[in-house]
Amino acid sequence: MTNATFSHDDVRLDLPLVPASQGNNGYDIAKLLGATGDTTLDVGFANTASCCSAITFIDGDAGILRYRGYPIEQLAEQTTFLEVAYLVLYGELPTQTQLDEFSASIAKYHVIDERMREMFRTMPRKSHPMPVLSASINALSTFAVSRYGEDAFDLDRATHILLGSVPTLAAYGYKNSVGQPFLYADETLSYIENFLRMSFGLPTGPYPFDDDITRALDVLLILHADHEQNCSTSTVRMVGSSGANIYVSIAAGVSALSGPLHGGANQAVLEMLKGIRDEGGDVHSYINKVKDRKDTTKLMGFGHRIYKNYDPRAAIVKKHADSILRTRSGTQDELLDLALQLEDAALSDPYFQERKLYPNVDFYTGLIYQAMGFPQNMFTVLFALGRLPGWIAHWREQFTDPATKINRPRQVYVGEVERPFVPIDQRG
Ligand code: SDX
Repeated sequence: MTNATFSHDDVRLDLPLVPASQGNNGYDIAKLLGATGDTTLDVGFANTASCCSAITFIDGDAGILRYRGYPIEQLAEQTTFLEVAYLVLYGELPTQTQLDEFSASIAKYHVIDERMREMFRTMPRKSHPMPVLSASINALSTFAVSRYGEDAFDLDRATHILLGSVPTLAAYGYKNSVGQPFLYADETLSYIENFLRMSFGLPTGPYPFDDDITRALDVLLILHADHEQNCSTSTVRMVGSSGANIYVSIAAGVSALSGPLHGGANQAVLEMLKGIRDEGGDVHSYINKVKDRKDTTKLMGFGHRIYKNYDPRAAIVKKHADSILRTRSGTQDELLDLALQLEDAALSDPYFQERKLYPNVDFYTGLIYQAMGFPQNMFTVLFALGRLPGWIAHWREQFTDPATKINRPRQVYVGEVERPFVPIDQRG
C-alpha cells in the first residue's frame, strides 16, 4: 500500500494513504485544493470517506456487517439490545456486572420530567411521530440541563439519559396520538418490556407480554444499532461537529432518518404492499411500473448505497417475520406472501440483477412491527430507537477525536459570474 499521486498540468501531488484495518483505504486529499485551486466533486458523498471510524464495518459486496468486529448474525442470535448498545458505545462486549450497572443506570432515566409529559398533549393527535420524537429530544436537552445543570452534558450521563428517556418519549408520542394515558416505566421490567408496556399498556390492568414479540423487537433493535456513515449518522456528526450538544445532534439525526429514502422506507414498504394488494395483488405489474423509465415508482425496501448483495439484516428479519407472522393469522400473512412474491420476482429480473438491487433492512421489518400492533407511522420511530446507540457512539467518537474539524464541504459554483446591479425601474 503506497500513497497515490495526483498529476495535472504542472502539478504533481502526493495523496497520503490512510490505511484501513479492513475494507477501503483512504487517500487524504486535504492538500489538493491548495495545490491546484480546484476541488473534488462527489454528489451524495457516494465515494468519499468523511472520517475514520472504529465502530462498524460493512462489506457491501459480500453482505457483511460487524459491530466492533462481531458479525451481526452472532449478535442478533446471542445477545440483547442493551448488550449491543454497550458494545457499540464502549467497543467491547460487557461483563455481566458491567451490563447490570449499564442497564440500571439507563433505567433511572425512563421517567422523564413531568412537564415534558404535558408537552406531548400540545401536539396535534395526527402528528407524524418522527417530528414529535425529534422535537421531544430537543426538549430533553433543556429539561436535562434544568435538572442536572452542566452535568447533563457529561458524556456518560447524557448517553444514559438518551438511552433511558428516548423510548419513553417514543411511547408517549404514540400514546398521545391514540388519546390514551401515559404509563410510568416499571423498574421490574426489561428495557424492551418497558417500551412495549408504555406503548400499549393501560393503567387499568397488567400488560399481556408475548415473549416472541419481546424477543423479536430486541433483535430488530440490535439489527438497527449502527450502520457506519449512513445519512442520519452523518447528520449527527455534521451537527455535532459545530459544537452543538449531543441531544440536539441526535434530534437532527431523527429528522434525517424520517425521509422515505432512508428510515422512512419501512413505512413506505407497507404502503406499497397494501397498494399492490388493493389493486389485485399482481406483483409483476408493479415490477413493470418500477422498470418503466417514465415512472418514478421505486421498489421500496430494495437497493442500497453500500450493499450490492443481500443486506444481512434483511435475511435475519425475514426469518423472524416468517416465524412471527406464520403464527398469527390475518392480513400480515397475506402481505408477507406478497412481499415474498415481490422479492422472488425482483431477484429474478435483469433490471434488478444488473443494478444489484436486493432487499434491504426495511423490506420486511414493517410486517413485524405491524404484527406487534404498531401503526405504520411508528415504524421509523422504532428504527430510531434501534439506531440510537450508533448515533451516540459516532457523536462520542467524533467528540473525542483530536482530528475532528467543523464539517464544511466545498462546492463547484455554476451560477452567474459578476454582473452590475440593475435598478428596479430599468428591469423587465
Ligand atoms: C436505509 O445508508 C445506509 O446504511 C442506510 C440504512 C441504514 O441502516 O442506515 O441501511 C437504512 O436507509 C436502507 C435504504 C432504505 N431505502 C429504500 O428502500 C428506498 C428505495 N431504495 C432507493 O431509493 C435506493 O436504492 C437508495 C436510496 C437506498 C440507494 O440509492 P443510490 O445508492 O443513490 O442508488 P441510485 O439511486 O443511484 O440507483 C442506482 C440505480 C438507478 O437506476 P439507473 O438510473 O442506473 O437506471 O438503481 C435504481 C436507480 O433508479 N434503483 C432502484 C431502486 N434503488 C435504486 N430502482 C427501483 N427501485 C429501487 N428501490
